[in-house]
Amino acid sequence: MDLSTSYLGLRLPHPLMPGASPLVDDLDTVRKLEDAGAAALVMHSLFEEQLVMEQMAAVRNIDSHTEGFAEATSYFPSLDRYRLGADEYLEQIQKIKQAVSIPLIGSLNGVSPGGWLDFARKIHEAGADALELNVYFLATDPDDSGPELEQQAIDMLRSVKQHVPIPVAVKLSPFYSALAHFAKQLDEAGADGLVFFNRFYQPDIDLDALEVERSLKLSDSGELPLRLRWLAILSGRIKASLAASGGVHSGLDALKAVMAGAHAVQMVSALLKKGPGHLTAVRDEMTRWLEEHEYESLEQARGSMNLAKCPDPKALERGNYMEILQGWGG
Ligand SMILES: Cc1cc2nc3c(=O)[nH]c(=O)nc-3n(C[C@H](O)[C@H](O)[C@H](O)COP(=O)(O)O)c2cc1C
Repeated sequence: MDLSTSYLGLRLPHPLMPGASPLVDDLDTVRKLEDAGAAALVMHSLFEEQLVMEQMAAVRNIDSHTEGFAEATSYFPSLDRYRLGADEYLEQIQKIKQAVSIPLIGSLNGVSPGGWLDFARKIHEAGADALELNVYFLATDPDDSGPELEQQAIDMLRSVKQHVPIPVAVKLSPFYSALAHFAKQLDEAGADGLVFFNRFYQPDIDLDALEVERSLKLSDSGELPLRLRWLAILSGRIKASLAASGGVHSGLDALKAVMAGAHAVQMVSALLKKGPGHLTAVRDEMTRWLEEHEYESLEQARGSMNLAKCPDPKALERGNYMEILQGWGG
């Protein structure tokens, strides 16, 4: 079965790849992922705060634990808590490129346009084939407006595009008031791909300790429908290629993402739970299903469930919503 796809201008044998995560930190795991058939790899992120702190530490010749740092940085992990420092990150890119022959996508994670984005060039020079720009941000300041924050992300994208000739994808959260419009703006600003979505790690409250509990819960397939909805809405409407990230655990999940319009399907939780070999099982399940349903290629299925031909997706969404509520039978 021909599962081939094109994502960020990269020709890939199929859409499945591990998403940004520590899966790439260990070369042994990286080789296992290639052996399992991963179409590409995504590095975990280097964070704006980490890069800025490293620069400050270098300039001031102090380490990150001393009191000279601005108060805000006290909320961030100290430099020694990051898995890889900036230089080690670049070295890891070089090592991965030597160890395996599949495309490697770097990842930068930040919120403000600025000098730190110059690091994109270093990631490119270290050998990354593409870059993911993760704009994880929670708008907590009542004075920050939606358009201002969106413009900030667009400016970041433009700045990165000026620094590197490689394709750039933007990894988004679902929490924008007009996501379709924002996606269109990113598309027009030159985004080569959009990744749906970031996961927000929701804090809980420990009532006994009266502390905020930060825990990282791995996903399950229940998180997929939110991705399917937005892939289906934007598929066929923008030039940028689309990736699903979140809630893909099986071959059937991956097929749904492709039918909604995804060119690439990223998996993290499933691979962390079941190991790199799970990627082969997911690919095999996709192939089996397509054969059983007499598809000739995955391309034939791509976008078949999107809303591109729906004359009024707004009305359809609203209609479905009302239908579901009215149809509840207890
Ligand atoms: C342990 C862990 C580390 C992650 N690190 C990053 C990261 O550095 N950058 C990033 O963009 N996403 C990161 N993510 C988010 C994943 O790339 C992915 O978007 C999210 O886990 C949803 O996909 P999943 O349901 O397949 O896990 C991380 C996720 C996990 C579980």
